[in-house]
Amino acid sequence: VNPAVFRRAAGQVMLGSAPMPGAPLDNQLRVRMLHAPINPADLLAIDGRYAFDLESAVPIGAEGVGVVEAAGDAIDDLRVGDRVLPLSRGNWCRYRLLDRSDVVFLPPDIDAVQAAMLRINPATAWLLLRSCGAEPGDVVVQNAATSAVAHWVRRLAPTFGITVIDVVRRPDPALPDALRDGDDLPDRVQAAAQGGRIGAALDCVAGAATGRMAACLATGGRLMLFGHLSGEPLQVASQVMTAKGISITGFSLRPSEAALGVEGRRAMFAALAGIHAADPPDLPVRAVLPLSRAEEAIAQARSGEPGRVLFDLSC
Ligand SMILES: NC(=O)c1ccc[n+]([C@@H]2O[C@H](COP(=O)([O-])OP(=O)(O)OC[C@H]3O[C@@H](n4cnc5c(N)ncnc54)[C@H](OP(=O)(O)O)[C@@H]3O)[C@@H](O)[C@H]2O)c1
Repeated sequence: VNPAVFRRAAGQVMLGSAPMPGAPLDNQLRVRMLHAPINPADLLAIDGRYAFDLESAVPIGAEGVGVVEAAGDAIDDLRVGDRVLPLSRGNWCRYRLLDRSDVVFLPPDIDAVQAAMLRINPATAWLLLRSCGAEPGDVVVQNAATSAVAHWVRRLAPTFGITVIDVVRRPDPALPDALRDGDDLPDRVQAAAQGGRIGAALDCVAGAATGRMAACLATGGRLMLFGHLSGEPLQVASQVMTAKGISITGFSLRPSEAALGVEGRRAMFAALAGIHAADPPDLPVRAVLPLSRAEEAIAQARSGEPGRVLFDLSC
């Protein structure tokens, strides 16, 4: 059997069964999944509020990690027992049949729980930094600074020569220098930048927060909008846009990485896996639950308490 979690109706999931993969052909792999997290995007998908329509016949789950259980004859660079990161959706299940081009090899000693969180947020941070228009030497301001994406933005920013100013909605002892969001945020961000050019703002909150983030920007700056945590429409003073020639760019991970091409995407994930392995992150984990407790796991993920909730897909 191949237990899997599917979307049933808006806000609801059901535990069902996905087809059990047979022997892999040619360039195919049968992957036994180990762990998969519940991300904000999964909650949006369950609620029917995701940016794209997702197939209801495909299990939920934007990311996860697994181990190769069988490989087709044409595959000579992966072996049974190798850890792999599937790049496509559909990870809340026990077994997957995947094309070789749809997985990334992971170093064997990588922690499976942390590796399960490597597919979405590090790549999002990497591509946001790459496409936000900030130049080396610039400052980038980001909100929801306690999030996993923000963790990776801080970690990857030095690679781009960028300094980061963090914004939180409530104080967090782990981020003592973060600024608390509020009406005078632009003034406090300017002061914290110490004369540095604020070339980009990374906003996943939307609503009134977008207006405050846009007002932080230097002339010609770009706001990357990549999330909807407030659930509110954008509120930006039009004068902020016109006075400083600011642009707002919507960002989605999968189209952005598709634009890299197959080789570019593979190179990005190889680089991220190397960064991960060289200095393994310790992203907070609140709970690891079996698929059979999916509703409870999803309720925990919705609670907003710190730490990621993951599935243990082996039981
Ligand atoms: N567009 C894309 O392709 C893409 C890809 C990946 C992620 N994302 C988006 O990036 C965002 C972060 O994802 P993640 O997985 O890194 O998050 P996460 O680790 O689950 O953390 C959630 C974050 O959201 C903050 N938050 C929740 N509700 C908020 C609100 N109403 N106002 C302000 N902050 C709020 C939390 O702040 P507290 O610590 O104060 O609770 C926390 O920092 C999400 O919106 C996600 O959908 C988008």
